[in-house]
Amino acid sequence: MPSYAITGTSRGIGLTFVKTLSENPANTVFALARNAASAKNLNEFVASHKHKNAHVVESDNDNIESIQNAAETVGKITGGKLDVLINNSARMFHERNELTLDAYEDPHLLDHDMLSFFKTNVLGVIHTTNAFLPLIRAGEMKKCIIITSTLGSPRFTVDTKFIRAPGYSMSKAASNLAVAKYAAQYKEEGIVFLSISPGLVRTKSGSKEEVDAFYDLQEKQIRSMYPKFEGAITPEQSVRDQLDLIHRVSIEQTGSFVNRDGTDAEAEI
Ligand SMILES: NC(=O)c1ccc[n+]([C@@H]2O[C@H](COP(=O)([O-])OP(=O)(O)OC[C@H]3O[C@@H](n4cnc5c(N)ncnc54)[C@H](OP(=O)(O)O)[C@@H]3O)[C@@H](O)[C@H]2O)c1
Repeated sequence: MPSYAITGTSRGIGLTFVKTLSENPANTVFALARNAASAKNLNEFVASHKHKNAHVVESDNDNIESIQNAAETVGKITGGKLDVLINNSARMFHERNELTLDAYEDPHLLDHDMLSFFKTNVLGVIHTTNAFLPLIRAGEMKKCIIITSTLGSPRFTVDTKFIRAPGYSMSKAASNLAVAKYAAQYKEEGIVFLSISPGLVRTKSGSKEEVDAFYDLQEKQIRSMYPKFEGAITPEQSVRDQLDLIHRVSIEQTGSFVNRDGTDAEAEI
């Protein structure tokens, strides 16, 4: 009975992981959500799901106690083990995403934004990983996945002149290094750590016009340097490919930052 815990499952890629994994009645799926009560789509899916193999558990990346309680809840249900942890949650957008590093009029606001991205996307991932590590150690598959982003790649940033969203991008670069640190520490124990770039995935909310304009702009910018770029994909396709990779990845690739097909995310997109 493989068991999976996924963070950030109220919507987007996280919710799609929950839906896809719970299709298999042999899986036990723990859907971690920042605010379980308000995760309407997730709760509706879990309540009406025929296999009853998905559990909603609250876990807020910004709250250490909430993360530790989540790991304890999962451990009680599984008898102290977990096969795969997928750190998917992230703070992504906010109203100042368009500001570059030198565009803040108030340096204190720059501090605030950078620290809040670091708190949620880096420390949140580290606290979650630490809380679940004892369960993963006791599990059979022993995999800890962190969904990061090509925006965390220095090469991609320079090639595409992607100067927006510095706090988010830098938090993803830091997460890639956290993966490398864990991988170096736990390779001998056989625990695989992997950073996955999920592709450009259509999860943004808003009117069709707004959403299309947003992804058109991203695609144009990326294609200016990488003409063969596939474009924006659906959450379903991204999750299908990521799960194929998660299932086949072995300890030899631990610590890597890869695209969802397993290729080196620093070398190609
Ligand atoms: N979409 C893309 O094109 C893309 C590209 C590259 C990488 N990624 C990465 O893929 C992952 C999923 O992206 P997405 O597009 O599905 O994002 P999304 O639609 O914005 O969903 C983000 C999820 O993270 C949760 N979250 C935010 N703050 C949290 C916190 N403090 N504690 C716990 N959960 C929190 C959100 O919960 P609430 O609903 O409660 O806020 C939501 O469930 C992220 O790590 C993102 O960086 C996405």
